[in-house]
Amino acid sequence: MNIVLLGAPGAGKGTQAAKLVEKYGMCHISTGDILRAAVKDQTPLGIKAKGFMDAGELVPDDLIIDLMKERMQQPDTENGVLLDGFPRTTTQAVSLDSMLSELGRPLNAALLINVENEAIVKRLTSRRMCRECGHIGSVKDGDTCPKCEGEMFQRDDDNEETVRNRLDVYDKQTAPLIDYYRGKDLLLSVDGDRDPDVVFADVVALLDL
Ligand code: AP5
Ligand code: MG
Repeated sequence: MNIVLLGAPGAGKGTQAAKLVEKYGMCHISTGDILRAAVKDQTPLGIKAKGFMDAGELVPDDLIIDLMKERMQQPDTENGVLLDGFPRTTTQAVSLDSMLSELGRPLNAALLINVENEAIVKRLTSRRMCRECGHIGSVKDGDTCPKCEGEMFQRDDDNEETVRNRLDVYDKQTAPLIDYYRGKDLLLSVDGDRDPDVVFADVVALLDL
């Protein structure tokens, strides 16, 4: 299955993706994770992307589309992908359609995770992530990852001012994709403001896994 995970920053895309990977071994592609790795390694892409990411703005479409065209050619995508954070603009969505059609693969669903903005601000300002294994947790985990004992850190874009800008950017540039996928009869929607395992049970049922 090829699935797009839609939802505002902090809606729980990464959290639900990790559960899908754990249970079904899906090929998870997070453009945010790829970009953060590029920033850390100071690659040409990372150097171009850093300023946009730190400000909570979107990285330009041409950079993201080139990155995804290359990623979608890799053999681990052949049995389906779980796209997290891509597409984020109508231009990216149209480009994904042509990538998949050139590869002869369908898009099966766009799954929207719904959460109110104020709940998101609380979640993101208290989110912490593991430097070693990528575990998504919160300030309650302390400095040590509960999964691998690696160091927990706060993302540079998880301060309140940047989070609010990310939410504005989402409303203006990404939310139109809800209608885009509804128009293609691919939109599924889940209430993301419940316990992550309860959300996951709905996700599994909606995707008919
Ligand atoms: P990206 O990394 O994709 O960030 P995002 O979309 O802002 O989303 P997040 O990763 O912040 O949230 P999430 O939905 O994954 O939530 P999570 O599961 O972590 O992108 C970062 C930046 O990269 C962008 O701003 C942009 O600059 C650039 N970029 C990336 N892709 C791009 C693209 N395609 N085009 C252009 N630019 C691009 O959960 C959040 C917190 O909530 C965690 O603490 C978690 O534990 C908690 N939580 C999760 N679920 C629940 C629940 N059900 N109940 C309570 N707490 C929960
Ligand atoms: Mg994420």
